[in-house]
Amino acid sequence: MPALYNFMNKKFAAPRGTNDILPDETPLWEDLESKARKICKSYGYHEIRTPIYEETTLFKRSLGQTSDIVNKQLLELATDKEEGYALRPEGTAAVVRSYIENNFDAKEILSKFFYIGPMFRGERPQKGRLRQFHQIGVEAIGSNSASPYLDVEMIALAMHLLNELGVKGLKLKINSLGSKEDKEHISIWLRSEFAKHKKNLCEDCQNRFERNVFRVLDCKKEHCRKVVASIVKHLPMSESSCVYFKTVQGTLKASGIDFEVSPHLVRGLDYYTHTVFEITAEGLGSQDAVGAGGRYSGLVHELGGNEEIDYGAIGFALGIERILLACGYDSTIIPNRIQAFVIAMKEEYQQDAFILLQQLRREDISADMGFSGGSIKSQMNKANNANASFALILGEEEMRNGTVALKDMTASKQEVVLVKDIINVIKSRLKE
Ligand code: HAM
Repeated sequence: MPALYNFMNKKFAAPRGTNDILPDETPLWEDLESKARKICKSYGYHEIRTPIYEETTLFKRSLGQTSDIVNKQLLELATDKEEGYALRPEGTAAVVRSYIENNFDAKEILSKFFYIGPMFRGERPQKGRLRQFHQIGVEAIGSNSASPYLDVEMIALAMHLLNELGVKGLKLKINSLGSKEDKEHISIWLRSEFAKHKKNLCEDCQNRFERNVFRVLDCKKEHCRKVVASIVKHLPMSESSCVYFKTVQGTLKASGIDFEVSPHLVRGLDYYTHTVFEITAEGLGSQDAVGAGGRYSGLVHELGGNEEIDYGAIGFALGIERILLACGYDSTIIPNRIQAFVIAMKEEYQQDAFILLQQLRREDISADMGFSGGSIKSQMNKANNANASFALILGEEEMRNGTVALKDMTASKQEVVLVKDIINVIKSRLKE
């Protein structure tokens, strides 16, 4: 019995690192999402919705066995099936999977997708770092789409979204990792350079040195940063990759987008080649990246795309919770409003009130009522709490005469309206 007793008294809470988005916050989310949808569409991107879980191997194959996300943060689902599933830690892998599965390459030269939704990573939660968080992601995938102008379009779109959503103090850092072949050469070069300083690197970096030497470049520890700064002034790349990156930089400048080239920016996911970028915002502390992305042309082949097609792909994702934190979340809460609140002054008028309520809703007038009845004062309080524009009162006289008392809650004016006219009157008052 004691175990049952404990269970009965247990107070449940949202899982660590997750948040409820409460009704007074959802208008803010809706506003942000609708602005994001509008801007993405204006750049020719269309919404895709993929499942929130995928086969675990999809993430292992795309994000890389050595990435922190695969190694430490995948939230796998317990299942008795042979293939394992995991909650999606990001959106790119699923979009590429869907691109291949749905043969988009046979339908169009360049496919442009965006998505908005929750992602899941088993991280240690802190301010701006959650286990369930939300991203606005954008991906462009196509055959022969390796145009530096598309790289700039992506960066411009990310900056446009963040500016429009009101994020201040933005800083854009870019780098190029070169082509797939360049990456292999750079990796050999980095290993030979860091070998001389291996003992000065932190324990994580000594491991990274073996498994993914690129990750040493963005280690935040002071002594590793010193080693990196003394060795890496820029990443050695082929002539064509340098020209590509120069065009990206020149076009960013010509478009009036400020940036800094950061030779140590490599990003935590293995799939990147050529241009990578990260955008930070002021006032967020250590988790200040509001968005990041880059080119990942090799991933389409890696996940089974047609070997005869030379795919190009690039994308980014913005973190919605960090955007809201950066905007000063509390000051931007938009109160919920309702247009009409129906009040029955006696218990026996409740059914008529309910019929009227449903008529209003069918006519696209947002409406509610005080289901528990009560005095006129307490029901007017409920109408005020619901931020109602109008209260519709059914009292004895109104019931007798087939009328409704219509109270304008902001102007504190009241008039008597025939029930058959009430919809038209409210609609015309709402337009005033
Ligand atoms: P990412 O850098 O892992 O990239 O995540 C993008 C953004 O999501 C981050 O800059 C941050 O704002 C937000 N974010 C990431 N993890 C968390 C977390 N634990 N809590 C709160 N916010 C977080 C990607 O996900 C790539 N798929 C981006 C991409 C798309 N690259 C190419 N296409």
